[in-house]
Amino acid sequence: MDLEIARFDPAAADMAACHDLLVASHHVDLPGEPPLPLAELVGRWARPLPGMGTAERWVGFRGDDLVALAQVNFLDAENSAIGVTHIVVHPAARRAGIGGAMLRAVLPALRERGRRVIEGWEVVAGTAGERWAAAMGFRRVRTVVRQALVTAKADPSRWDVPVPAGYRLLWWAGGAPDAVLDSYAAARGAIHDAPLGESDYRWPRWSPARVRAAEAEARAQGLEQRIVAAVHERTGDVAAFTEVCVHPRRPDWGYQRDTAVVAAHRGRGLGRSVKAHMVRWLLAERPALARIGTTTGAENAHMIRVNREVGFTTLPSMIAVQRAVSPGTRPA
Ligand SMILES: CC(C)(COP(=O)(O)OP(=O)(O)OC[C@H]1O[C@@H](n2cnc3c(N)ncnc32)[C@H](O)[C@@H]1OP(=O)(O)O)[C@@H](O)C(=O)NCCC(=O)NCCS
Repeated sequence: MDLEIARFDPAAADMAACHDLLVASHHVDLPGEPPLPLAELVGRWARPLPGMGTAERWVGFRGDDLVALAQVNFLDAENSAIGVTHIVVHPAARRAGIGGAMLRAVLPALRERGRRVIEGWEVVAGTAGERWAAAMGFRRVRTVVRQALVTAKADPSRWDVPVPAGYRLLWWAGGAPDAVLDSYAAARGAIHDAPLGESDYRWPRWSPARVRAAEAEARAQGLEQRIVAAVHERTGDVAAFTEVCVHPRRPDWGYQRDTAVVAAHRGRGLGRSVKAHMVRWLLAERPALARIGTTTGAENAHMIRVNREVGFTTLPSMIAVQRAVSPGTRPA
Protein backbone atom coordinates (compact mmCIF):
# COMPACT_ATOMS: atom_id res chain seq x y z
CA MET A 1 0.00 0.00 0.00
CA ASP A 2 1.45 3.35 -1.04
CA LEU A 3 0.13 5.22 2.00
CA GLU A 4 2.15 8.15 3.29
CA ILE A 5 1.32 9.46 6.74
CA ALA A 6 2.57 12.86 7.88
CA ARG A 7 1.88 15.36 10.61
CA PHE A 8 -0.77 17.83 9.56
CA ASP A 9 0.89 21.14 8.76
CA PRO A 10 -1.55 24.04 9.17
CA ALA A 11 0.65 26.33 7.07
CA ALA A 12 0.56 23.99 4.07
CA ALA A 13 -2.88 22.52 4.67
CA ASP A 14 -5.56 22.19 2.06
CA MET A 15 -8.49 22.64 4.41
CA ALA A 16 -11.02 22.21 1.61
CA ALA A 17 -9.60 18.73 0.91
CA CYS A 18 -9.77 17.84 4.63
CA HIS A 19 -13.35 19.08 4.72
CA ASP A 20 -14.29 17.10 1.57
CA LEU A 21 -12.98 13.92 3.19
CA LEU A 22 -14.92 14.50 6.40
CA VAL A 23 -18.11 15.35 4.52
CA ALA A 24 -17.82 12.20 2.37
CA SER A 25 -17.45 10.11 5.52
CA HIS A 26 -20.27 11.98 7.27
CA HIS A 27 -22.69 11.23 4.41
CA VAL A 28 -21.98 7.51 4.83
CA ASP A 29 -22.20 7.38 8.63
CA LEU A 30 -24.85 10.02 9.36
CA PRO A 31 -26.90 10.28 6.18
CA GLY A 32 -29.38 13.15 6.13
CA GLU A 33 -27.66 15.12 8.90
CA PRO A 34 -25.99 18.42 8.08
CA PRO A 35 -22.18 18.12 8.08
CA LEU A 36 -19.84 20.56 9.82
CA PRO A 37 -19.40 23.65 7.62
CA LEU A 38 -15.87 24.34 6.33
CA ALA A 39 -15.55 27.59 8.33
CA GLU A 40 -16.42 25.77 11.55
CA LEU A 41 -13.89 23.05 10.79
CA VAL A 42 -11.19 25.67 10.17
CA GLY A 43 -12.07 27.40 13.43
CA ARG A 44 -12.07 24.22 15.49
CA TRP A 45 -8.77 23.10 14.08
CA ALA A 46 -7.28 26.49 14.89
CA ARG A 47 -8.50 26.03 18.47
CA PRO A 48 -10.26 23.02 19.99
CA LEU A 49 -13.58 23.60 21.74
CA PRO A 50 -13.37 24.41 25.47
CA GLY A 51 -12.65 21.30 27.52
CA MET A 52 -11.00 19.41 24.66
CA GLY A 53 -7.39 20.22 25.59
CA THR A 54 -4.86 20.59 22.78
CA ALA A 55 -5.05 18.71 19.48
CA GLU A 56 -2.59 17.15 17.05
CA ARG A 57 -3.44 15.85 13.60
CA TRP A 58 -2.09 13.53 10.95
CA VAL A 59 -2.88 13.19 7.26
CA GLY A 60 -2.71 10.06 5.11
CA PHE A 61 -2.03 10.44 1.39
CA ARG A 62 -2.08 8.04 -1.48
CA GLY A 63 -0.23 9.92 -4.17
CA ASP A 64 -1.88 13.35 -4.27
CA ASP A 65 -5.11 12.10 -2.73
CA LEU A 66 -5.90 12.78 0.90
CA VAL A 67 -7.44 9.50 2.05
CA ALA A 68 -7.29 9.68 5.86
CA LEU A 69 -7.19 12.05 8.82
CA ALA A 70 -6.41 11.39 12.44
CA GLN A 71 -6.88 13.74 15.34
CA VAL A 72 -5.85 13.29 18.95
CA ASN A 73 -7.16 15.62 21.64
CA PHE A 74 -4.87 15.62 24.63
CA LEU A 75 -7.31 16.36 27.44
CA ASP A 76 -6.02 18.10 30.53
CA ALA A 77 -6.58 18.41 34.29
CA GLU A 78 -8.39 15.31 35.63
CA ASN A 79 -8.35 13.73 32.16
CA SER A 80 -4.62 13.97 31.47
CA ALA A 81 -4.24 10.21 30.96
CA ILE A 82 -6.65 10.19 27.99
CA GLY A 83 -6.02 10.85 24.32
CA VAL A 84 -9.35 11.22 22.54
CA THR A 85 -8.66 9.97 19.05
CA HIS A 86 -10.69 10.17 15.88
CA ILE A 87 -9.60 8.48 12.69
CA VAL A 88 -11.47 8.93 9.43
CA VAL A 89 -10.77 7.12 6.18
CA HIS A 90 -12.38 8.23 2.93
CA PRO A 91 -15.25 5.83 2.13
CA ALA A 92 -13.62 4.98 -1.23
CA ALA A 93 -10.39 3.95 0.48
CA ARG A 94 -11.74 1.79 3.32
CA ARG A 95 -10.89 -1.84 4.12
CA ALA A 96 -7.32 -1.47 2.86
CA GLY A 97 -5.62 -1.23 6.24
CA ILE A 98 -5.43 2.57 6.24
CA GLY A 99 -7.43 3.03 9.47
CA GLY A 100 -5.11 0.60 11.24
CA ALA A 101 -2.02 2.35 9.85
CA MET A 102 -3.29 5.74 11.07
CA LEU A 103 -3.88 4.28 14.53
CA ARG A 104 -0.33 2.94 14.67
CA ALA A 105 0.97 6.35 13.52
CA VAL A 106 -0.63 8.23 16.42
CA LEU A 107 0.40 5.85 19.21
CA PRO A 108 3.96 7.22 19.69
CA ALA A 109 2.58 10.73 20.28
CA LEU A 110 0.14 9.35 22.85
CA ARG A 111 2.98 7.62 24.67
CA GLU A 112 5.22 10.69 24.50
CA ARG A 113 2.47 12.76 26.07
CA GLY A 114 2.02 10.26 28.91
CA ARG A 115 -1.37 8.96 27.80
CA ARG A 116 -2.35 5.54 29.03
CA VAL A 117 -5.81 5.38 27.52
CA ILE A 118 -7.04 6.00 24.02
CA GLU A 119 -10.74 6.73 23.67
CA GLY A 120 -12.82 7.30 20.54
CA TRP A 121 -15.96 9.31 21.17
CA GLU A 122 -17.42 9.75 17.71
CA VAL A 123 -18.10 6.24 16.51
CA VAL A 124 -21.63 5.98 15.12
CA ALA A 125 -23.27 2.82 16.49
CA GLY A 126 -23.68 0.11 13.89
CA THR A 127 -21.26 1.61 11.35
CA ALA A 128 -17.86 0.49 10.05
CA GLY A 129 -16.28 2.47 12.90
CA GLU A 130 -17.77 0.14 15.51
CA ARG A 131 -16.56 -2.98 13.72
CA TRP A 132 -13.14 -1.47 13.07
CA ALA A 133 -12.76 -0.45 16.71
CA ALA A 134 -13.56 -3.99 17.84
CA ALA A 135 -10.99 -5.37 15.37
CA MET A 136 -8.38 -2.92 16.75
CA GLY A 137 -8.86 -4.09 20.33
CA PHE A 138 -11.13 -1.33 21.60
CA ARG A 139 -14.10 -2.10 23.82
CA ARG A 140 -17.32 -0.15 24.05
CA VAL A 141 -17.38 1.88 27.27
CA ARG A 142 -20.34 4.14 26.73
CA THR A 143 -23.38 4.63 24.53
CA VAL A 144 -24.44 8.19 23.89
CA VAL A 145 -27.91 9.15 22.70
CA ARG A 146 -27.89 12.04 20.24
CA GLN A 147 -30.92 14.28 19.98
CA ALA A 148 -31.69 17.39 17.96
CA LEU A 149 -34.34 20.04 18.20
CA VAL A 150 -35.13 21.23 14.68
CA THR A 151 -36.81 24.52 15.40
CA ALA A 152 -38.88 24.68 12.18
CA LYS A 153 -40.44 21.30 12.96
CA ALA A 154 -40.91 21.72 16.70
CA ASP A 155 -44.20 22.52 18.42
CA PRO A 156 -43.71 25.80 20.35
CA SER A 157 -46.39 24.82 22.88
CA ARG A 158 -43.80 22.39 24.31
CA TRP A 159 -41.87 25.39 25.60
CA ASP A 160 -44.81 26.68 27.68
CA VAL A 161 -43.46 25.11 30.83
CA PRO A 162 -44.28 26.79 34.15
CA VAL A 163 -41.54 27.53 36.64
CA PRO A 164 -42.08 25.19 39.64
CA ALA A 165 -43.38 26.93 42.78
CA GLY A 166 -40.59 28.16 45.06
CA TYR A 167 -38.14 28.88 42.23
CA ARG A 168 -37.45 31.72 39.83
CA LEU A 169 -35.51 31.67 36.62
CA LEU A 170 -32.38 33.70 36.01
CA TRP A 171 -30.54 33.79 32.73
CA TRP A 172 -27.35 35.30 31.41
CA ALA A 173 -24.98 35.23 28.47
CA GLY A 174 -21.25 35.29 29.08
CA GLY A 175 -20.67 35.48 32.81
CA ALA A 176 -22.60 34.36 35.87
CA PRO A 177 -23.70 37.23 38.14
CA ASP A 178 -21.34 37.48 41.12
CA ALA A 179 -24.30 37.05 43.48
CA VAL A 180 -24.89 33.46 42.35
CA LEU A 181 -21.36 32.46 41.35
CA ASP A 182 -20.68 30.19 44.34
CA SER A 183 -23.97 28.30 44.20
CA TYR A 184 -23.82 28.14 40.39
CA ALA A 185 -20.36 26.54 40.60
CA ALA A 186 -21.75 24.07 43.15
CA ALA A 187 -24.71 23.33 40.87
CA ARG A 188 -22.34 22.69 37.97
CA GLY A 189 -20.85 19.97 40.16
CA ALA A 190 -24.19 18.14 40.03
CA ILE A 191 -23.19 17.04 36.53
CA HIS A 192 -21.03 14.47 38.34
CA ASP A 193 -24.19 12.43 38.79
CA ALA A 194 -24.58 12.14 35.01
CA PRO A 195 -23.48 8.64 34.00
CA LEU A 196 -20.26 8.25 32.01
CA GLY A 197 -20.47 4.50 31.50
CA GLU A 198 -17.03 2.92 31.78
CA SER A 199 -15.23 5.78 30.09
CA ASP A 200 -12.16 7.04 31.94
CA TYR A 201 -13.35 10.59 31.34
CA ARG A 202 -14.12 12.54 34.52
CA TRP A 203 -16.29 15.63 34.69
CA PRO A 204 -14.42 18.79 35.70
CA ARG A 205 -14.30 19.56 39.42
CA TRP A 206 -16.13 22.86 39.35
CA SER A 207 -15.21 25.78 41.56
CA PRO A 208 -15.98 29.49 41.21
CA ALA A 209 -12.48 30.03 39.76
CA ARG A 210 -12.95 27.24 37.26
CA VAL A 211 -16.33 28.65 36.21
CA ARG A 212 -14.71 32.02 35.54
CA ALA A 213 -11.86 30.35 33.62
CA ALA A 214 -14.31 28.39 31.45
CA GLU A 215 -16.33 31.55 30.79
CA ALA A 216 -13.15 33.37 29.75
CA GLU A 217 -12.16 30.48 27.46
CA ALA A 218 -15.58 30.54 25.77
CA ARG A 219 -15.38 34.32 25.35
CA ALA A 220 -11.87 34.10 23.89
CA GLN A 221 -13.23 31.74 21.25
CA GLY A 222 -16.16 34.04 20.47
CA LEU A 223 -18.61 31.45 21.81
CA GLU A 224 -21.87 32.86 23.04
CA GLN A 225 -22.40 30.91 26.24
CA ARG A 226 -25.96 31.12 27.49
CA ILE A 227 -27.14 29.84 30.83
CA VAL A 228 -30.65 29.51 32.20
CA ALA A 229 -30.65 28.79 35.92
CA ALA A 230 -33.42 28.06 38.40
CA VAL A 231 -32.86 29.86 41.70
CA HIS A 232 -34.37 28.42 44.87
CA GLU A 233 -36.22 31.42 46.30
CA ARG A 234 -35.86 30.54 49.97
CA THR A 235 -32.06 30.17 49.90
CA GLY A 236 -31.16 32.22 46.80
CA ASP A 237 -29.06 29.28 45.58
CA VAL A 238 -28.89 27.97 42.04
CA ALA A 239 -30.79 24.67 42.02
CA ALA A 240 -30.60 23.82 38.32
CA PHE A 241 -29.06 25.15 35.13
CA THR A 242 -28.72 24.45 31.45
CA GLU A 243 -26.06 25.72 29.07
CA VAL A 244 -26.19 26.25 25.30
CA CYS A 245 -23.37 27.68 23.23
CA VAL A 246 -23.76 29.39 19.88
CA HIS A 247 -20.70 29.75 17.73
CA PRO A 248 -20.27 32.83 15.53
CA ARG A 249 -19.11 30.58 12.68
CA ARG A 250 -22.31 28.56 12.87
CA PRO A 251 -24.96 30.99 14.09
CA ASP A 252 -27.89 28.79 13.08
CA TRP A 253 -26.77 25.99 15.41
CA GLY A 254 -26.95 25.69 19.19
CA TYR A 255 -24.67 23.31 21.06
CA GLN A 256 -26.36 22.05 24.17
CA ARG A 257 -23.79 21.56 26.88
CA ASP A 258 -24.34 20.62 30.54
CA THR A 259 -27.73 20.52 32.22
CA ALA A 260 -27.95 19.54 35.86
CA VAL A 261 -30.36 19.74 38.77
CA VAL A 262 -28.88 19.68 42.28
CA ALA A 263 -29.88 16.39 43.96
CA ALA A 264 -32.07 17.99 46.65
CA HIS A 265 -34.16 19.72 43.98
CA ARG A 266 -34.76 16.82 41.61
CA GLY A 267 -38.19 15.48 40.63
CA ARG A 268 -39.86 18.91 40.53
CA GLY A 269 -39.73 19.65 36.81
CA LEU A 270 -36.77 22.05 37.01
CA GLY A 271 -34.86 20.34 34.18
CA ARG A 272 -37.74 20.71 31.75
CA SER A 273 -38.39 24.25 32.92
CA VAL A 274 -34.82 25.53 32.36
CA LYS A 275 -34.53 23.73 29.03
CA ALA A 276 -37.86 25.00 27.71
CA HIS A 277 -37.01 28.52 28.77
CA MET A 278 -33.62 28.23 27.07
CA VAL A 279 -35.27 27.36 23.75
CA ARG A 280 -37.70 30.28 24.04
CA TRP A 281 -34.93 32.74 24.96
CA LEU A 282 -32.64 31.52 22.19
CA LEU A 283 -35.35 31.74 19.54
CA ALA A 284 -36.47 35.19 20.73
CA GLU A 285 -32.94 36.56 20.39
CA ARG A 286 -31.78 34.35 17.52
CA PRO A 287 -34.81 33.67 15.32
CA ALA A 288 -32.52 32.16 12.65
CA LEU A 289 -31.48 29.34 14.96
CA ALA A 290 -32.39 26.18 13.07
CA ARG A 291 -31.16 23.43 15.31
CA ILE A 292 -29.96 22.59 18.81
CA GLY A 293 -27.93 19.41 19.17
CA THR A 294 -27.39 17.48 22.38
CA THR A 295 -25.81 14.23 23.59
CA THR A 296 -26.73 12.25 26.71
CA GLY A 297 -25.49 9.01 28.24
CA ALA A 298 -27.90 6.23 27.20
CA GLU A 299 -28.57 5.30 30.85
CA ASN A 300 -29.73 8.82 31.60
CA ALA A 301 -33.42 8.14 30.93
CA HIS A 302 -34.64 11.30 32.71
CA MET A 303 -32.59 13.69 30.61
CA ILE A 304 -33.52 11.91 27.39
CA ARG A 305 -37.21 12.10 28.29
CA VAL A 306 -36.97 15.80 29.25
CA ASN A 307 -35.38 16.48 25.88
CA ARG A 308 -38.17 14.63 24.09
CA GLU A 309 -40.77 16.61 26.01
CA VAL A 310 -39.14 19.86 24.89
CA GLY A 311 -39.26 18.70 21.24
CA PHE A 312 -35.89 17.03 20.65
CA THR A 313 -35.96 14.03 18.32
CA THR A 314 -33.57 11.10 18.57
CA LEU A 315 -30.78 10.49 16.05
CA PRO A 316 -28.41 7.51 15.62
CA SER A 317 -26.41 6.86 18.79
CA MET A 318 -22.68 7.27 19.20
CA ILE A 319 -20.54 4.86 21.12
CA ALA A 320 -17.37 5.63 23.02
CA VAL A 321 -14.64 3.02 22.71
CA GLN A 322 -11.48 2.56 24.72
CA ARG A 323 -8.26 0.60 24.80
CA ALA A 324 -4.87 0.87 26.45
CA VAL A 325 -2.33 2.87 24.48
CA SER A 326 0.08 0.00 25.06
CA PRO A 327 -1.89 -3.26 25.00
CA GLY A 328 -0.92 -5.59 27.79
CA THR A 329 -0.84 -2.74 30.31
CA ARG A 330 -3.80 -1.80 32.41
CA PRO A 331 -5.70 1.01 30.64
CA ALA A 332 -5.98 3.26 33.68
C1 LIG B 1 -13.33 3.18 11.06
C2 LIG B 1 -12.50 3.51 9.82
C3 LIG B 1 -11.48 4.57 10.21
C4 LIG B 1 -11.79 2.23 9.37
O1 LIG B 1 -10.90 2.55 8.31
P1 LIG B 1 -10.36 1.39 7.32
O2 LIG B 1 -9.18 1.93 6.63
O3 LIG B 1 -11.48 0.87 6.50
O4 LIG B 1 -9.93 0.28 8.38
P2 LIG B 1 -8.90 -0.94 8.15
O5 LIG B 1 -8.83 -1.27 6.70
O6 LIG B 1 -7.65 -0.60 8.87
O7 LIG B 1 -9.70 -2.09 8.92
C5 LIG B 1 -9.04 -2.99 9.80
C6 LIG B 1 -10.01 -4.07 10.23
O8 LIG B 1 -11.14 -3.49 10.89
C7 LIG B 1 -12.30 -4.28 10.60
N1 LIG B 1 -13.25 -3.48 9.82
C8 LIG B 1 -13.09 -2.24 9.31
N2 LIG B 1 -14.20 -1.85 8.67
C9 LIG B 1 -15.08 -2.85 8.77
C10 LIG B 1 -16.41 -3.04 8.30
N3 LIG B 1 -17.05 -2.11 7.57
N4 LIG B 1 -17.04 -4.21 8.59
C11 LIG B 1 -16.42 -5.18 9.30
N5 LIG B 1 -15.15 -5.05 9.75
C12 LIG B 1 -14.49 -3.91 9.50
C13 LIG B 1 -11.82 -5.45 9.79
O9 LIG B 1 -11.46 -6.48 10.69
C14 LIG B 1 -10.60 -4.86 9.13
O10 LIG B 1 -9.68 -5.84 8.69
P3 LIG B 1 -9.94 -6.60 7.26
O11 LIG B 1 -10.28 -5.57 6.25
O12 LIG B 1 -8.62 -7.27 7.01
O13 LIG B 1 -11.06 -7.54 7.51
C15 LIG B 1 -13.42 4.01 8.68
O14 LIG B 1 -14.46 3.06 8.47
C16 LIG B 1 -14.03 5.34 8.95
O15 LIG B 1 -13.45 6.36 8.61
N6 LIG B 1 -15.22 5.39 9.60
C17 LIG B 1 -15.83 6.65 9.99
C18 LIG B 1 -15.09 7.30 11.17
C19 LIG B 1 -15.05 6.40 12.39
O16 LIG B 1 -16.03 5.80 12.81
N7 LIG B 1 -13.88 6.31 13.02
C20 LIG B 1 -13.74 5.50 14.21
C21 LIG B 1 -12.37 5.54 14.73
S1 LIG B 1 -12.16 6.64 16.04
